[in-house]
Amino acid sequence: MLILRDLVKEFGGLRAVDGVSFTLREKTITGLIGPNGAGKTTLFNTIAGVHRPTSGSISFLGHSIGGLAPHRIFATGLVRTFQIPRPFAGMTVLENTMLVGSHQSGERFWNNWVARGTVRAEERASRERAREILDFVGLERLAGEFAKNLSGGQQKLLELARVMMAEPRLVLLDEPGAGVNPTLLATIMDKLRELNARGITFLIIEHNMDLIMTLCNPVLVMAQGRLLLEGPPETVRSDPRVLDAYLGGVAA
Ligand SMILES: Nc1ncnc2c1ncn2[C@@H]1O[C@H](COP(=O)(O)OP(=O)(O)OP(=O)(O)O)[C@@H](O)[C@H]1O
Ligand SMILES: [Mg+2]
Repeated sequence: MLILRDLVKEFGGLRAVDGVSFTLREKTITGLIGPNGAGKTTLFNTIAGVHRPTSGSISFLGHSIGGLAPHRIFATGLVRTFQIPRPFAGMTVLENTMLVGSHQSGERFWNNWVARGTVRAEERASRERAREILDFVGLERLAGEFAKNLSGGQQKLLELARVMMAEPRLVLLDEPGAGVNPTLLATIMDKLRELNARGITFLIIEHNMDLIMTLCNPVLVMAQGRLLLEGPPETVRSDPRVLDAYLGGVAA
């Protein structure tokens, strides 16, 4: 589904991503781990078009997407959470969810936004869809609440709802478990599993090993900009090179 070949992203003299190649299979949940500064977020940003690759290629569903603008990549169904505008604190959960257009309606959605007459039907459909999605993530009772009043974990669920509005094929999640209490984390993990069963592919950066071990297969390990190894979670967990990478990361 997603194929990276020799991907490089440099910042000045620093090679944050240093020749990464891998293939992501459709309908998997792939984990991406590695010590702080390994280049994980930079890799995501390069895939999503936030950064232009220094060299190498990225292909998604058979099309080359390397160097495309973020909104064009979004339109192919590849969604990185923060490509979606951040929730507006002073708007309700429902309004924030409705704001996200499906990648399938694309720019037309935004053009219609100004053409008031045609907007009504789309708004009704969007409201209905948003309600269904909020129901799915368990935020239906908070639909009328201001986004700023949600807890950290509820914010993550809102983020997930907004990702779903985009009808993505592949979702890149950067630390979905960060700052989330264990109960809500279990909910988030359930929802991710369910969305995956419905056919959405995920690539997830996460420092929480429980999440990685229970949800992800395969797991990719990055260290110092490079892909160190790739394998099933049990293999990765017990590989001495991974421990070395983390210890090296701490020392650095
Ligand atoms: N915009 C930027 N400009 C310059 N250097 C950057 C930029 N973004 C990241 N870097 C550098 O690239 C390297 C990789 O950073 P990155 O954020 O990708 O790591 P990470 O694996 O996501 O780490 P963490 O687990 O802490 O989130 C670091 O040395 C970082 O300082
Ligand atoms: Mg990061």
